Amino acid sequence: MKVHVADHPLITHKLTVLRDERTDSPTFRHLVEELVTLLAYEATREVRTEKVSIKTPVTQTTGLKLSDPRPVVVPILRAGLGMLEGMTRLIPTAEVGFLGMVRDEKTLKASTYANRLPENLAGRQCFVLDPMLATGGTLVAAINFLIERGADDITAICILSAPEGIKVLEDAFAKSGVPITLVTGALDEKLNEHGYIVPGLGDAGDRLYGVV
Ligand code: URA
Repeated sequence: MKVHVADHPLITHKLTVLRDERTDSPTFRHLVEELVTLLAYEATREVRTEKVSIKTPVTQTTGLKLSDPRPVVVPILRAGLGMLEGMTRLIPTAEVGFLGMVRDEKTLKASTYANRLPENLAGRQCFVLDPMLATGGTLVAAINFLIERGADDITAICILSAPEGIKVLEDAFAKSGVPITLVTGALDEKLNEHGYIVPGLGDAGDRLYGVV
């Protein structure tokens, strides 16, 4: 698995405001969108393209356009929704699928409760959006779901990641044969006993949308 931890002062600055408990929901949502657009720039470095011939006002030339089939962006409900706008701003022609994941509090196993995705994802590059890579259970289940549908190139974009979650992800897909990439805004210190990322930013869903 390829792991890319963003190393850019603008990203760290925005993350610092995001982490601050005094930051209100509207500001938090806005910052998440901005951060995702910056992370998406790195995450799409290997997006598939094809040559295209165009005519500028000066001459004929060759450029690149995104290949068909278009990439699929998959926000994981609920907190991943807050990342969608920032991603589609960068790739407006991407298709968007949705994946609702829930965790059984007894077994701690994540399972899918809703999805709106093509049955066949063969040949599609998938970009999974989930702000917090904590224990890794949700992301592993989501990626497995996409692989079962034929996805053969998957990039997860997370605002923050914990080392424990990265290890779980690496172990889960070490032998899958499917290239998995993680692009994250920061690699935090650890998980606490409640499964929260430390120093983290608290509950991403609550901070985006309030406690409902
Ligand atoms: N999910 C969150 O929203 N925050 C964490 O710190 C861990 C998981």
